[in-house]
Amino acid sequence: MFSVTCVAPVNIALIKYWGKRHEELILPVNDSISMTLSTDELCAKTTVTASESFERNRMWLNGEEVPFEEGSRLQRCLKEVHRLAVASGSQKVPPTWKLHIASVNNFPTAAGLASSAAGYACLVYSLSRLYDIPLSEELTTVARQGSGSACRSLYGGFVQWHRGALDDGSDSVARQIAASDHWPNMHVLILVVNDARKKTASTRGMQQAVKTSQLIKHRVDQVVPDRITRLREAIASHDFQAFAEITMKDSNQFHAVALDTYPPCVYMNDVSHRIVSFVHDYNDRMGSYHAAYTFDAGPNACLYVLAEHVPHLLSAIQKVFPNDLADGDTYLRGLPIPKEQDAECSKLDSLDVHAKNAFRYIIHTKVGEGPRELSADNSLLINGLPLE
Ligand code: DP6
Repeated sequence: MFSVTCVAPVNIALIKYWGKRHEELILPVNDSISMTLSTDELCAKTTVTASESFERNRMWLNGEEVPFEEGSRLQRCLKEVHRLAVASGSQKVPPTWKLHIASVNNFPTAAGLASSAAGYACLVYSLSRLYDIPLSEELTTVARQGSGSACRSLYGGFVQWHRGALDDGSDSVARQIAASDHWPNMHVLILVVNDARKKTASTRGMQQAVKTSQLIKHRVDQVVPDRITRLREAIASHDFQAFAEITMKDSNQFHAVALDTYPPCVYMNDVSHRIVSFVHDYNDRMGSYHAAYTFDAGPNACLYVLAEHVPHLLSAIQKVFPNDLADGDTYLRGLPIPKEQDAECSKLDSLDVHAKNAFRYIIHTKVGEGPRELSADNSLLINGLPLE
């Protein structure tokens, strides 16, 4: 019997992947760029066990068994990993042995966050450790076939998923742009509005967008290529001003494409829009960009903010969005936030104050590293060896 346990991170897109040019291979219509979040706050954790005595492949997600059907994305990932194992000559585990796979998220699925990206990245990474296959660009093409955005979760820091041009998808790979220590003070506040995000929302929403939206064509041809170049430059030079503007504009355009889809896809809700207005008002008061929002296929806001500005931004959020739970220990999760000493509150006086309890809680996290293997007692392994 062989068993491995790994953790993999969530990533949040700064330039969104939206639309496929091949449904089964999951080939995107445009490049995308994301930031990987620290696994300390949010991660998927997967244990894969191979045994001669298992009769069939089985998988459990957050404790519930899920079907392992022929032709499913799960099955496709497994087949691809087997192909890579044979190609690399790995003989550690016989490919005929069946697998039991158990995966959990360390964050409530109710948070509606990108759990499929972390989940498939973790599955593929764990299989690669089981069969002794090195992390490579080719491995990202396997994760991509589980869920497009999952290919970006195989690396830490800032990651670009290249659309590629080949029909077989072999050049549609993820590559790291910069490691997590390149911009270590890049933090994130996730404002959890509700749990409305469903997995099918993105897959089906983007299919309809490609079929019906005229704006998506303009986005893919005229907008994204230039944004990719400019965002790469902003990341390379730690330019938060350019980073913030490109990120917010791209979130807005992605949701504009969703609304241009027929019938329209509406992912943001009233609270999401109030958060957008708040971020713009707040940045105006501060005289430059101190926060940048982005929204995926759901209403939850992800705010990028430099570490030194987190306490002030949080005081502003608490002023504008009062919450009965604000003093409780489940409201503010993740990294601790020092109390703001000099909140310069006069600057915030004229901000609109909204009705109480607009969102449920806040997760404070930061840029983080890619997947890693854990030892049997769940401690970290580096190159297969436990840390001293
Ligand atoms: C809005 O990767 O979940 O989060 O490839 O169909 O599984 P499938 O879709 P998925 O879509 C993610 C869309 C997004 C933007 C992004 O992460 O780039």
